[in-house]
This record gives sequence, C-alpha cells and structure tokens, in this order.
Amino acid sequence: MLTRAELEQRVGEQVHVLRFWDELSEEERSSLSQQIEGINVNDCRSAFNDSVNVHLPQLDNITPIPDERYIVSSELSSNERSRLFNLGLESISRGELCVLVLAGGQASRLGSSMPKGTIPLGFNSEIVEGDSLLSIQAAKIHRLEELSQKAFPGTTGKIHWAVMTSSGTTKDTLAHLEEIVPLNGLSIDNVTIFSQANIPAFDQSGNFWLSKKGEICTAPNGNGGIFSALSPHLPMLREKGVKYIQTYCVDNILCRVGDPAMLGMVIAKGSDCAAKTIEKVSGELVGSIIFEDGKPRVAEYSELGGLEALARNDGKLLYRAGSIAIHYFTMDFLESFCTSTFHLPYHRASKKIPYIDASGQLIQPTEPNGIKLEQFIFDVFPLSKNFFAWEVEREDEFSPLKNAETAGVNCISTCLRDLSLQSKKWLQAAGANFGDEKLVFVAASQSYAGEGLESWGKKRTGRSIYG
Ligand code: UD1
Repeated sequence: MLTRAELEQRVGEQVHVLRFWDELSEEERSSLSQQIEGINVNDCRSAFNDSVNVHLPQLDNITPIPDERYIVSSELSSNERSRLFNLGLESISRGELCVLVLAGGQASRLGSSMPKGTIPLGFNSEIVEGDSLLSIQAAKIHRLEELSQKAFPGTTGKIHWAVMTSSGTTKDTLAHLEEIVPLNGLSIDNVTIFSQANIPAFDQSGNFWLSKKGEICTAPNGNGGIFSALSPHLPMLREKGVKYIQTYCVDNILCRVGDPAMLGMVIAKGSDCAAKTIEKVSGELVGSIIFEDGKPRVAEYSELGGLEALARNDGKLLYRAGSIAIHYFTMDFLESFCTSTFHLPYHRASKKIPYIDASGQLIQPTEPNGIKLEQFIFDVFPLSKNFFAWEVEREDEFSPLKNAETAGVNCISTCLRDLSLQSKKWLQAAGANFGDEKLVFVAASQSYAGEGLESWGKKRTGRSIYG
C-alpha cells in the first residue's frame, strides 16, 4: 500500500479523493490505494478535455453508404443467398469463426441489478436449455456447429465464443455461463471471458467523484474498450485458426449469432470490416451508418440531429442504414491496430451519478450531474480499407432488450412477442396451424433460421415448441 504522501502525489489535482483518508479502515485504505495505482490521472484529464472536441459528423460533408458497398440481402437471388450461407458454413466448419458478445454494459435503462444476458425471460426452464439471452445465444452457436458439420461431413469445426464483461458484470456472467454452456452442448474450453477497463466518472469540471468514502466512482469505458481488452487474446485466437470475429450486443433476442450468410459475404468480398443494418425508421434510437470524406462511420442517434429525419430518397430515409451493432472484423484487420494501449476517442454522456459529498453524505441526484466517458466500437470503421454494409430484415434479426417493462418498447415482453412472431412464421412455412396461442417458440437448439422444422409442421407439442 502506498503512503498518503505518495498517493497525494499520484492523484495531483484530484486530491479531494483522499478527503476521508483519516476515517478509512486499513482495508479501505489498501483498496483505495490499489484503485489509485491503477488510474493514470493525466490520461484521465486528457480524455476528459479531448472529449469536448470529439469529432461529430459534419452534416454538409456526409453521404449515404455508396450503393456498391451496401448489400441488401433480400434483393439477392435465393441462389446467391444460399451460396454465401454455405461459404460461411464452410469457414465455420474449418474453425475460422469467433463470435464475441459485448456484455459489459451497466443496463442502466433497464434498471436491472443482474447483467442483461443473464436475466430470466420467463421460458419454462424444464424444456429450455437455460432461460436467458446468453442461453439462447449458446444454443444458436451449437446449432450452427451442427449445421456446418452436417454440410461438410468429416469436419468438427467449433465456434469460439468470446464474452466481454466489465467489473460489474463479470462475476454473475461467469457463474451463468458455467451453468448454460454445458447445458447447450458447448465446451467451456471454447469460451474466453475477459473484462474491459473502467474509467473514472467526472463532474462538469473534470473532477472525479467518490462513490464511497474510500472508492473513486468509475464506469466501464464503453464498448469500444473491446480493442485494448481483446488484444492479449488475439494470439490465442490466431493459434486456434480463427480468421473472422463477429461482435454483437448481448441484448438482441433475434441476433443471428455467427450469421453464416453475412460471413460468406465478408469472405466473398474480401471485406476487412462489415456492419449489419436494418432500414431505420425516422427518429429511431439506432446509429446510422454514413460515409464522411469517403470513409465509413456511424453517426450515433444522439449526433445526427433533425436533418436526417427529413432527408428522403424515393420515399425512404436517405440515411436509412440503421446500425444494429453487429459487426464482422477479420483477424488481420484487428491485429493491424489492437494493442493493450490502443484507445478510441471518448464520447461524453450526461448521467445521474450518485456521489459522496464533502460532508460525507451519499447524494442521489435526480437530474444528470456528471459525465461518463465512453468509446464506441464502430469508431474503428474509418480504419477499414474494404468496408461493406449488409442490410437485413428487422423482423428477422432485431429486437433488443433495452428498457424496463414500463417503457412498452424494447423490453422483455416485446422481445418475446418478436421471437414468437418469428417462430410462428417459421412453423407456418413448415405447415403448422395455430389456434389462439399467444406465444409460441421454436428452441434455438432445433432451428437456427427456420430450417429443419418440417416434422413440426405436423406435430403441435413437444420439446422444440414451447410457450
Ligand atoms: C448501441 C449502438 C447503436 C446501435 C444500438 C442497437 C454503440 C456505441 N451504440 O446503442 O449504434 O444502434 O446499440 O441496439 O455500439 N457495452 C459494453 N460495454 C460498455 C457499454 C456497452 O460491453 O461499456 C455493450 C452492452 O452490454 C450492449 C452493447 O454494448 O451489449 C450496446 O450498448 P448499449 O448501451 O445498449 O448501446 P445503445 O445505446 O443501445
């Protein structure tokens, strides 16, 4: 443990964080000392100052994605879609794919104390292999492995699963994964869990807050923290033969984890970096993929302003490429810039930050009182030399869990509704008829994208249909 004098020197201008030093127990002092040793105050100050000038899209300098870089999957012939799907499956059968879930968020809009990926969704646990977003994802990974082994007999390709957590989500996520990974026929040896870094939260002037008398308030450094956090694991992935990494958000119940069709497109085009999109609805809270100075980037929903809502082309939004935060990167691309010290520009978010005031009282603000800094994963897009966007249908691939039930949108009931609509669509295509069942689900372990349900068209009950 450092002495108080040494700590004062380290924290410099942020000396107020030692205000309660004399009241702290030995244990609390040691923990605060350790925390301070892990924080570079000058770097934090630079991050705070630089974030004022983070580059926002200049509206007179942007264009939609050029047509030749924007592939609408529903406009491809079914032969071409099958060709790309098989190309992706073949790569999976060779063990070239890693899927990486971003699970370090604090779920503040949802207001849950459990990490989003582990929250029970309300499935009947006797007939489903786990009851959470992460367990659905595990089942999809396993199903894809089965499909690739079937399509390419004699292969045993495994999909590596990487899980990025943060200090607040690691423990519960790890415990949940230990339970659901074997339940879904996967091996924990093929799962890598790693934590992103935290960064202090600030008041409006750039001062740190105390969350306890002996603890500086910190928060995860944004999903763009992935690159420095992943860098120590890249050699291991390379050694396993991984060539492509798909990153996705933990919250999207319809996410096609490891989507072979998009992977096939990436391979066919020799793309180093690609993003999945849906047709954005005006005012929707998703980022828009645009080009600025000839380079791809995402304008966050908070950044594009009202102009994009008005601009239309052929009745569609001009900036209609809504990002659903599913990206493919090649290993070569990641290795070209990922180091343990790599960081992207920080964006500012105004937040309500509980803090200990000078008299030692815990204050719970009712209005935003401070700033959290976040890096965004898509800020690496301008580094791409061969970027592509891949548009898919919203009803097939996007229904995120962002909010508490009271919001009525992007909450558990809307996720279940959308998953059930998809299951019904698949089953109807296989010949099933429904009475008035409200919710009907096809287990991800039975069907990845609607395939293999022919026999279920005739049956009405059983392990793969529940609800
Ligand atoms: C994100 C996208 C937005 C997209 C939308 C689609 C970013 C920066 N924004 O917005 O462009 O339209 O999803 O749903 O990607 N996460 C971490 N660590 C963090 C913060 C977040 O791992 O420090 C993870 C979350 O757990 C989640 C994902 O990143 O899986 C997205 O985070 P969230 O805060 O939900 O982003 P949105 O604002 O919804």
